Amino acid sequence: MPSIQDILDLGRVMPVIVIDDSSKAVGLANALLEGGIRTIEITLRTNAALDAIRAVANECPDITIGAGTVTSPALAAAAAAAGASFAVSPGTTENVIKGCEDAALPLLPGAATVSEILSLQEAGFNAVKFFPASAAGGPNFIKSLISPMPSIRVCPTGGITLASAPDWLALANVPCVGGSWIAPQAAISAGDFDTITGNARAAAAL
Ligand code: 3PG
Repeated sequence: MPSIQDILDLGRVMPVIVIDDSSKAVGLANALLEGGIRTIEITLRTNAALDAIRAVANECPDITIGAGTVTSPALAAAAAAAGASFAVSPGTTENVIKGCEDAALPLLPGAATVSEILSLQEAGFNAVKFFPASAAGGPNFIKSLISPMPSIRVCPTGGITLASAPDWLALANVPCVGGSWIAPQAAISAGDFDTITGNARAAAAL
């Protein structure tokens, strides 16, 4: 099982996927891989998500697959059973942390305030997902963390685009950003994998 550190080092952009049809999952993963993306987060927001994770885990060994929107121990267990290699949460509770530990799933825990990030650091995390990144403070917020919390690494997601990603990636504490712009829900549903490969290529080049 890779560590969260390893996962954040796989690329500078992690696509956040909302998928309605699990039969599209392998085509989607291959389209992203062709564009140079090696790690993706499939959010557990749709009925298709767990089957999609299972399919990618079984059939796409070159993609590291994470489960997003892990908001309970039950979802952590289900994600691990489906073959996810890591979990991402939008915010973090003790239950979510314990659920991921019990499921042996490395967690990229969500946080949006200095106190939340500090609590996660106390709990042993050295990387967090900053969500909702644009709404909760933008790049200046993350830049402000470098001095008081120099060892915390931040993966911002929420409202980031191809155009705004460089502002985040320029920060010393941001190894990668997440976002849905690379594989929009509509493009996945339409099976428009060429567009997704093109978006992935642009993202991977950042
Ligand atoms: C997430 O869960 O990280 C966000 O939904 C991604 O946000 P975006 O759709 O604004 O990129």
